Parts: sequence; structure tokens; C-alpha cells
Amino acid sequence: MRRAVVIGVGHHLPDRIVENAEFEKTLDTSDEWIRARSGIERRHFASDGETTSSMASAAANAALAQASKAADDVDAIVLATSTADLTFPSAATMVQDQLGMTRGFAFDVQAVCAGFVYALANANALIASGQAERVLVIGAETFSRIMDWTDRSTCVLFGDGAGAVLLEAQEGDGTSQDRGILSTDLNSDGRHRDLLYVDGGVSTGTSGYLRMQGNQVFRHAVEKLAQTAETAMERAGVSASDVDWIVPHQANIRIIQGTAKKMDLPMERVVVTVQDHGNTSAASIPLALSVGVERGQIKRGDLIVTEAIGGGLAWGAVVMRW
Ligand code: ACO
Repeated sequence: MRRAVVIGVGHHLPDRIVENAEFEKTLDTSDEWIRARSGIERRHFASDGETTSSMASAAANAALAQASKAADDVDAIVLATSTADLTFPSAATMVQDQLGMTRGFAFDVQAVCAGFVYALANANALIASGQAERVLVIGAETFSRIMDWTDRSTCVLFGDGAGAVLLEAQEGDGTSQDRGILSTDLNSDGRHRDLLYVDGGVSTGTSGYLRMQGNQVFRHAVEKLAQTAETAMERAGVSASDVDWIVPHQANIRIIQGTAKKMDLPMERVVVTVQDHGNTSAASIPLALSVGVERGQIKRGDLIVTEAIGGGLAWGAVVMRW
């Protein structure tokens, strides 16, 4: 059975780090409020010359280097983002050019904070169906460019960055002991589109700002995340006691803790980066995977569950063996 196995991972964070206290200068907020309500302590913001595609390329180069592969060893790039540099072409084709990759194909996936899970599922399908041998799957965002800096309920929560994995087709036995992606589960429900959206786009002539009813999104999050993770685990034929690491979307420590509790998994088995990165939307899971490997938490052979929810609402989970 063909499996899509991670053979390299990497990330890129902009140099500029903004601590919570910075926001106290311009907004009626406090470091205590932001930490207590979200778990966020700091985040990175892109500088003027940095874009989603430039950060994505840096993360992709790091993943390629770790796998000792060159850009032309890659058949496809699937880039999850809601903040592409331009309306079109896709950020993925810009990355293709920046990497010097002159063959294959590249496209963006837009499922907001669930984007990386959607991108992994699509890349897995490309590999499983024999359309690609190696796929770069990237999550990259510059949410700082869609922030309303006067809205304290959103602008303190988000950050910029990029992460990438390189997937390669390998033969497995078809059991849950195989390395690679074992199962995926994707969901969306457009009835909830008003809970989290950007009020700009081609219909308005502006790129707009992020608007969120945070407490309403919160209400959906824990239940839907635990449910999609359960579904994916069931498809993979594994249970919570088999899981080495949950690598969740990093939006809010309270959502992460609530979901782990519902899944009956201790926080010692959860990779947490939200304190240092804030919510980087589609970039948060690959960033956490890369940091988890760097910290020595995630090791070859570990069973990993990733789960995410975001605007749409769109949500999903992927089970993989590292
Ligand atoms: N500083 C101080 N006070 C604030 C701030 C701030 N930065 N922001 C809001 N408040 C106030 C509110 O005005 C409100 O005041 P009021 O009671 O006088 O009206 C009070 O704090 C409580 O606000 P809530 O929104 O109810 O606070 P909550 O505990 O829900 O925390 C948060 C807010 C952090 C946004 C939380 O709801 C959350 O994390 N939601 C989910 C976000 C998420 O997961 N999004 C999905 C992914 S993102 C994507 O897809 C792009």
C-alpha cells in the first residue's frame, strides 16, 4: 500500500518578535488578559519585505535540506494559506519559482486555520493515487496584514510564519504500524461563515480585515476538534492510548487543553507552541511539527494526531506515523 511519509520538516519565523506588553501602549488590554484568555505570550510579525511566499520558500528549503532533496525532486507543492501575496497567481507557484523548481505543479489550498490539514489530505490523495511521488506541503501566513490594529479582540491573537513538510511515497503493509499518513477527516459547514471572516476581497476592492466572534468560535471548537480526531483515529484503527503526540492547531491554550481532555490525553502528550507564535492559522501545525522535532519531542515512529478548525467553519484531522 502506498503511504505518504514525512521525510523532512522545516519552518521559518520572521525576526520581529512582539511581546504582549507592546499592545498595552496602544490598546485597552494587558499581558495578563492575553495570557489568561489565550495562552499567548508573544508572536512574530513579518517585516516590510517579507511575504507569505518568501516565508513559505524558507520553510520549504529547510524541509528539503533535512530530507537531502533538491527542488526538482519534488512533483507538487500544496500551499495552505489565506494570505497569499496576491489574489493570483497562487502563492504556491511563487514558491515554485523561488525554489528554482522547473517541473511539476503547484497550487494553494484555502481553508483558513484548517488549511494545513486540508493540504495534507490533498497531498496524501495525490500520492495515494500515483499522481506524485514527492509533495511539499506548506502552511504559510501573514495575518498581520489583515489585522484591524484597533480591534483588541482579534489583533492580539495572531502571528506570522511558515512551516513545511516533504512527503514521499513509500510502500507500507497497510497496517497502523506503517509510517506515513494513516487517515484523514475533513469537514466544513458554511452556515457558520459569519463567525470568522475577512471583510474584504474582490467584491469590495479592498483586502479587508479579520472579523471574529471569538467566543462563538470557541463554543464550536472543542467539540468539533475532538470529534474529527476521534473519526480520524477510528479510520486509522488506533485509539487514544496509542497516540504519542497531539499536534493541534495553535489558536488558544484553553481550546487545546479542552480538546486533549475530551480525547482523554494528558497535556504531556500535546505539542504546544501557542505561547511563542500566537495563532498563525494554516502555518501553526507545520510550525509545531518542526518545533516539536527540534525540541526532541517528536521522534521517528511516533503516532501523531493533528487537528484544526477555522473560518468557514472548516475543520479536520490527520493521523500519521512520523
Ligand atoms: N484585552 C482585554 N479585554 C478584551 C480583549 C483584550 N485583548 N479582547 C476582548 N476583551 C474583552 C471583551 O470585550 C469582553 O468584554 P465584556 O465582557 O466587557 O464584553 C471580555 O473581554 C470577554 O470577551 P470574550 O470574547 O467573551 O472572551 P473569551 O474568553 O471568549 O476569549 C478569545 C476571547 C481569546 C478570542 C477566545 O474566544 C478564543 O480563543 N476563541 C477562538 C478563536 C479561534 O479558535 N479561532 C479559530 C481559528 S482562527 C482562524 O480560523 C483564522
